[in-house]
Amino acid sequence: MHSSRNGSGKGSDVLVIGGGIIGLVTAWRAARHGLRTALADPDPGGGAARVAAGMLAAVTELHYGEETLLGLNVASAARYPAFAAELTEASGGMDLGYRACGTLAVALDADDRLHLRELHALQRRCGLDSEWLTGRECRRLEPMLAPGVRGGLRVDGDHQVDPRRLATALLAACERAGVVIHRARAERLTVTADRAAGALLDDGTELRADQVVLAAGSLSGRLAGVPAEAVPPVRPVKGQVLRLAVPPAYAPFLSRTVRAVVRGSHVYLVPRENGELVVGATSEELGWDTTVTAGGVYELLRDAHELVPGITELPLVETRAGLRPGSPDNAPLLGPTDLPGLHLATGHYRNGVLLTPLTGDVMAELLTTGTVPEIARPFSPRRFSTSRQESYA
Ligand code: GLY
Repeated sequence: MHSSRNGSGKGSDVLVIGGGIIGLVTAWRAARHGLRTALADPDPGGGAARVAAGMLAAVTELHYGEETLLGLNVASAARYPAFAAELTEASGGMDLGYRACGTLAVALDADDRLHLRELHALQRRCGLDSEWLTGRECRRLEPMLAPGVRGGLRVDGDHQVDPRRLATALLAACERAGVVIHRARAERLTVTADRAAGALLDDGTELRADQVVLAAGSLSGRLAGVPAEAVPPVRPVKGQVLRLAVPPAYAPFLSRTVRAVVRGSHVYLVPRENGELVVGATSEELGWDTTVTAGGVYELLRDAHELVPGITELPLVETRAGLRPGSPDNAPLLGPTDLPGLHLATGHYRNGVLLTPLTGDVMAELLTTGTVPEIARPFSPRRFSTSRQESYA
């Protein structure tokens, strides 16, 4: 498995299709393990990470029925400090904007308060650290919060990273580790003797590889040539995100991530050390549409304003929409498919930035040893092919 069967200059041990943060971390880790690695993407370092806020919210984004995913999320969050330090070094000194600032999830009315109380109880049952605060205690921590805040959960372990810097550093680390980057779109998977054997790119290049990793985010289900039973069931889930700027005179505007559920929608404000304040995000099932809409911007500003009225004073510097790779159970697809030689690293949905360190480690182990680490086994892509077969039986 460690050497290419192909011999030619266009052959490698591993071909990664997709150069978002998940494809890049997979390629970087594979190359660090000594595998000859190529990656194909027309815009490496692009994708959903250019839009994402970068919350590492394993505890505050816990949902009922997702306790297995929680284990994966918590494990990846724990790897972040060492991962960030290693990537900074491997990229030649790039700062990822990793900030151990914690998160405050607040309630604006009695319904929100009940919801947060239930989340707190679930967090405690799962052995997670979070502390209930009164509205006054919340405002003492974050004086810009609205006077009407009714209470909140302080989660000191949910941090943040800047996803754009993360993507840029991963691309640099890949290049420094010898990953061959092809700036073209993979059009078709090559299958030879019932095995994935490479891909044809839209510039006519044919790449051959012993193992192929499909890590194309929300586009992962659209690669031609993948047999039906191996096509990942991912779909795009649109998120609109705003970026405001906090002038130095207003700093520190917020000292940690502040979030709430307002009228059933999540809104969060993520303050960066460089003065950027990210406000996200809508969640819309609209196919491939990435239009920034007046309605989306209005709802985000309205909800963020209820939480932190002073945001209306800040310059609005960017509005953008991206596509999360949603999966049927909100959890990623990590591991081999039913087609030998084809692996998936996709479907990370709301947790792509958080799961980047762990995904890199899991995929590198799979690519070098042929074995998926224990922690990632519940996230086998085959969980969907099995249930599909059963439901059709
Ligand atoms: N994890 C935040 C989001 O997907 O909006």
